[in-house]
Amino acid sequence: MKSFTSAVLLLAGLAAASPVQKQSPYEVTQFTASKTHNSGYCTFSFDVSTHGIAEPAHCTASADAGFSGATYLAMIYEGLGKCDNADVTWTFYQPSAVETAPPKDATLNVTINGVRGIYTIPGSDITASLNDPQNPFDNDVSYTGPKAFSITKFVKVEEQE
Ligand SMILES: *[C@@H]1O[C@H](CO)[C@@H](O)[C@H](O)[C@H]1NC(C)=O
Repeated sequence: MKSFTSAVLLLAGLAAASPVQKQSPYEVTQFTASKTHNSGYCTFSFDVSTHGIAEPAHCTASADAGFSGATYLAMIYEGLGKCDNADVTWTFYQPSAVETAPPKDATLNVTINGVRGIYTIPGSDITASLNDPQNPFDNDVSYTGPKAFSITKFVKVEEQE
């Protein structure tokens, strides 16, 4: 009787945890992100594929980082990032840095069918160029890390209807 109870509890625990643990990686390819020269506008583009979606989804966004002297990439909030597959959504956030500081780590979240993959982009993979020390409005920012990477950390998100 005692072992029966613990077996039931074990099964219940496995059932609750399985959707995220069995998730196959999200493979991101062709990832680009940069701020347009002399502008606050940032453009993003990538493809993402995983087991369970037929073809890679192509995702893009453009957003304003606020001013041309930004040393970080613009935030992409839920709904701003577009994909050609309605089951795929994404967000991006990099904390702002003061002009001379190295870029800070950023987060890219890609949600496919209610499972959110979380990926940390190291600040060292985002290059900020202070082109003119006399001109605080002339900075360039671009992602300079690998164009392809795997997202392997997942959380389940509530379905929002
Ligand atoms: C990514 O997801 C995590 C966990 O749900 C959340 O804490 C974080 O704010 C999200 N980041 C972005 C950029 O949406």
